Amino acid sequence: MAQPAPQLNAGNIDDVLKAMTLEEKAQLLVGDGNDGFIGSGAMLGHQAKLVAGAAGQTVAIKRLGIPATVVSDGPAGIHIDPIRKGTSQTFYATGFPIGTCLASTWNPQLVYQVGRAMGEEGLEYGVDVILGPGMNIQRNPLGGRNFEYYSEDPLLNGTIGAAMVNGIQSMGIGTSPKHFAVNSQETDRTRVDERVSQRALREIYLRGFEKMVREAQPWTVMSSYNKINGVYSQGNHDLLTTVLRDEWGFKGIVMTDWIGERDDLPVADEVHAGNDLMMPGYPVQTKDIIDGVKSGKIDIKDVDRNVRKMLEYIVKTPSFRKYKFTNNPDLKGHAAVTRQTSAEGMVLLQNRGGVLPIRNLKTVALFGVNSYDFLSGGLGSGCVNVPYVVDMVQGLKNIGVATTPALTDIYEKYVPYAKAKLAADKNPEMWFLNQGQPKLDEIDITDRLTRHEAQQADAAIITLGRQSGEGIDREVSEFNITEKEREMISHVSDIFHSQGKPVIVILNSGWSMETASWRDRVDAILVAWEPGEEGGNSVADVLTGKVCPSGHLTATWPVSIGDDPSTANFPQQPDYYGLTDKFARGALKGVNYSNHDEDIFVGYRYYDTFHKTVAYPFGFGLSYTTFAFSGLKVKKQGNDVVVSVSVKNTGRTAGKQVAQVYVTAPKGNLEKPAKELKAFAKTKELRPGQSETLTMTIPVRDLASFDSADSQWIVEPGTYAFLVGDNVENIAEVTGLTLDKYTEKVNNALPLKASLNLLHR
Ligand code: BGC
Repeated sequence: MAQPAPQLNAGNIDDVLKAMTLEEKAQLLVGDGNDGFIGSGAMLGHQAKLVAGAAGQTVAIKRLGIPATVVSDGPAGIHIDPIRKGTSQTFYATGFPIGTCLASTWNPQLVYQVGRAMGEEGLEYGVDVILGPGMNIQRNPLGGRNFEYYSEDPLLNGTIGAAMVNGIQSMGIGTSPKHFAVNSQETDRTRVDERVSQRALREIYLRGFEKMVREAQPWTVMSSYNKINGVYSQGNHDLLTTVLRDEWGFKGIVMTDWIGERDDLPVADEVHAGNDLMMPGYPVQTKDIIDGVKSGKIDIKDVDRNVRKMLEYIVKTPSFRKYKFTNNPDLKGHAAVTRQTSAEGMVLLQNRGGVLPIRNLKTVALFGVNSYDFLSGGLGSGCVNVPYVVDMVQGLKNIGVATTPALTDIYEKYVPYAKAKLAADKNPEMWFLNQGQPKLDEIDITDRLTRHEAQQADAAIITLGRQSGEGIDREVSEFNITEKEREMISHVSDIFHSQGKPVIVILNSGWSMETASWRDRVDAILVAWEPGEEGGNSVADVLTGKVCPSGHLTATWPVSIGDDPSTANFPQQPDYYGLTDKFARGALKGVNYSNHDEDIFVGYRYYDTFHKTVAYPFGFGLSYTTFAFSGLKVKKQGNDVVVSVSVKNTGRTAGKQVAQVYVTAPKGNLEKPAKELKAFAKTKELRPGQSETLTMTIPVRDLASFDSADSQWIVEPGTYAFLVGDNVENIAEVTGLTLDKYTEKVNNALPLKASLNLLHR
């Protein structure tokens, strides 16, 4: 008599693997996107059938007790359909702050709490894996998905990424940090060849992922659409096996980003590379695996290795545990988490004459369409279907501050009109721009009205909004401010200042904007980012001093786009559809391929080393109080360097401060950036006069540079300067430590094939 088929459990993976047919194995390695979006008109990232609107799911094999598992976007909250057929129940998800706002808190403990809240929400909505966090390096200010990512710096990226992964996974569901790796641009993202030196790959683009993998062991990782040095990430054995698994010890599964069969990448390469799961998954891929094994193009050992990893993943999931999700997550509790976190991630760029916080504020004139249509998050798969967005009017009202009636009335009538117009105008092909809250056009406000408003209000607030999203990079004109915005800033400032009333600008943008040409006209500038559904409340908390700002920039804000060394190789005119025919040729610089000529000099590593003026340096952020650093101590302890510094609140308001530790390496064989961030820590809220000693541990290997010639990490011997400050340009204390040579051999992986014109000091 035939044996009954084994039913999967954590202890019988070998038996299940043995019992599986080739067809079943192949099915498990390909997602259940069988309806497919291509040709069906469905949107990318909406393939799941078990949880409506989730991005996809894996195949169930009932015979062996293998359940389907559900994966859902994305970095700022759970992306599912809020309204479903046949039920009056709603399934809204909390809109958490975008990645850049989270990282701007420089507070991993807080990000961990956000992760827990997001994890609870995923768990209770029936999701097994959240497709995030987004961990690509913010290479250039025009990157369309920068808002989903954390930083231009790998240490900050890895630390915040690890906190998020640990937070989400502590709730018993998985994560998929993405897009591994070097998804630096959206233009031609599924084919662009990112040409990067091995050194820049190791030190900049992979290092954050490495830290996160070592510290948080995500259940899954998502490979990126692009190529790296001529090889697709999803078919890249060096990337997915040699580096990710053999060197870093990654134990989970790798899934592709949402693409079907690729005409120039055999499925055999993907299976061999260690890309375990093809998402969203098409029957043709299953067939390719079966045929590949039969014809000998695919080694069954590779298939078995990947299937085993899939089974190891599946037994961890809530679906396998038959977790009874409630569809009733703690939305109220999570709203409080997002309100607190986004307030802590907001960055105060300017506060002339200490106009902020505004005490005794009664009435405000609110300018700018985004004051009334506050942008909570970005566009594309990373957007969240939120239950509400607190705009500036509501946020101020909630703390007892009124807005001037005439102006409010005009904008509040305009917003629904502009939204209806935009909806009617929608281009269905631009699916990524149709997911989320698009930016509405500004309107003209006359001087006469502004004068009238100035008489009624105690202050003017101008909100400048910027939107961006998946699938399209930003244009230079979106970094710059428009003529209409410039006029609004000038007129409002002239009129309000003539009456002795302050003008405050709120930047409601996922990414950096040009500020140098207009900042002198206004008193205060607060970067609110796209802070999630509670945005207006968080801004009000900061403006009125309920929260003392403690956010710091996680990327340099340049004076102009042309200042950035990566701009020369970045798409300048990201007309996704207009360029389609040129994509086919594969030879368009900055579109089909991107030379990372700036090498390791990304962000502040460039501006600081080459002494270039910036609008705001990396790490910058003002507070309502002042702090002093003292007693910087650095000592070697085993394989670590331990840094401690005392931070004192020397001002008159309670607040938190971030100690940023930069290191300048001694002159050696390899050239080095002038400074690199090697540790950071944030104080608790310090009362005026109160001090806290922060202690940070830096593993010696974190001080190493990558020596491509010998495929090794190397700390060259000599005296290292340890600098502490509150941004890369504002260093308060310095001390030295002499270190011996340290090396760590790794594999010669991801070799550069093109010849680049690398930047040198
Ligand atoms: C995006 C991913 C996302 C996936 C599923 C892709 O287009 O690049 O970030 O997780 O779709 O929606």
